Amino acid sequence: MANSVSFQRAIADAEATFNRLHPKSREIWQRSCEVLPGGNTRTVLYYDPFPLTFLSGQGARLTDADGITYHDLLNEFSAGIYGHSDPVIAKAMHDAIDSGIALGGLNVHESHLARLIADRFPSCEMVRFCNSATEANIFALAMARLYTDRSDIMVFEGGYHGGVLAFPTDGSPLTLPFPFRMGRYNDIEATLAAMRKDSDKLAAVIVEPMMGGGGALPATREFLQALRDAATELGVLLIFDEAMTSRMAGGGLQGFHGIRPDMTTMGKYLGGGLASGVFGGRREIMERLDPRHPAFIKHAGTFNNSIVAMAAGAAGMEKVFTPAAAQDLHDRGDRLRDKLNTLSAGSPVPFQATGIGSLVNMHFQYGEILHPDQVQFRGALRKLMHLELLNRGFNTARRSYLTLSLPVTDADIDAFVAAVGEVLDGFGALDLSTEPQDKARTLAALV
Ligand SMILES: Cc1ncc(COP(=O)(O)O)c(C=O)c1O
Repeated sequence: MANSVSFQRAIADAEATFNRLHPKSREIWQRSCEVLPGGNTRTVLYYDPFPLTFLSGQGARLTDADGITYHDLLNEFSAGIYGHSDPVIAKAMHDAIDSGIALGGLNVHESHLARLIADRFPSCEMVRFCNSATEANIFALAMARLYTDRSDIMVFEGGYHGGVLAFPTDGSPLTLPFPFRMGRYNDIEATLAAMRKDSDKLAAVIVEPMMGGGGALPATREFLQALRDAATELGVLLIFDEAMTSRMAGGGLQGFHGIRPDMTTMGKYLGGGLASGVFGGRREIMERLDPRHPAFIKHAGTFNNSIVAMAAGAAGMEKVFTPAAAQDLHDRGDRLRDKLNTLSAGSPVPFQATGIGSLVNMHFQYGEILHPDQVQFRGALRKLMHLELLNRGFNTARRSYLTLSLPVTDADIDAFVAAVGEVLDGFGALDLSTEPQDKARTLAALV
């Protein structure tokens, strides 16, 4: 009967199905809890009642420990752009392994990948590699402070630049103690005022051209252009964190918008699915890392030029994730978002999908969302959507986030949209007066 099912009951039913389907995953997780806090080593992978363990992947499909196969619509939070079994990537990795893994010198793959990145992202006249996008951001921020001889860094409330560079509204105790000042995303007036205050102390502004963890919220072109203009005027370095968005349309959102940052940080798929990070920028900034430079800055990292990651990354960019493939993926993502948004008219709860291209977040509210503080958390609906989709064989994030990989087809997209439509229809039975109050206030805080 309409509006008669309490949230408590709906969640209990979804959990009961989930429990019944996944005895092996539950057992693996319970044993893991003895040696890993929460049974995991990466908070975002935790969800209740317990996270699934996957045993294998093929193309755009995943198989879990109980032998259930899923459409993968999460794709390692965007790092899995190649899907799970791309033969070009696999061959590059095998060839690299056969050549010897940790040779401890320069290898032929690092400059190959560096050149491919420099060609695709003109803001990266020179690059350096590291092991994650988090690391890339730490290096970029430290470099910006040295280069400008200034201390402060502007970040945005709700922004995410890694586990030690997270800025949820309610704060993050592990965030590094740089002297940060806050801007407000997509709010030109407030942000420029914060930049102009003691601007001689401001070294850098770091911004995601689309907030990923904050809820797939795109920055407006006007906002990014205003940051560009103010940074140039004030002698501040503008850093685009394109860890998520470098996949867009062949040249990242900087190419999409035609706005050139001073430095760019990336990671995720750039190592072909292995650990990798890259920071790059204007030659005169990056040259400070040249040991022959008079004001040389040391940049270390045992695995910075990991042979397997460099080889897989280069093969992927050159042969698989070509600019044409990137545009194709971007368009497929736009089609997915458009289809999801057509569900909103018949949905019994407010619903919309945000993002750009192949990065998508579903939200349970109407109206444009410009700032992360406008995202309605609605954790119980997100949990229900997540479990109901898993119970139907679709893998997404608990925070209703999804990303496409190259092997995801239009038929996969249609099947997914149909499943979301079914779940939304089911929400018609919910008694909304029983919706639990949210404790957390930002999506990034969702656990
Ligand atoms: C915008 C952004 N920057 C940085 C990171 C950190 O990347 P990594 O987990 O590879 O360190 C992420 C991860 O999701 C991200 O979305």
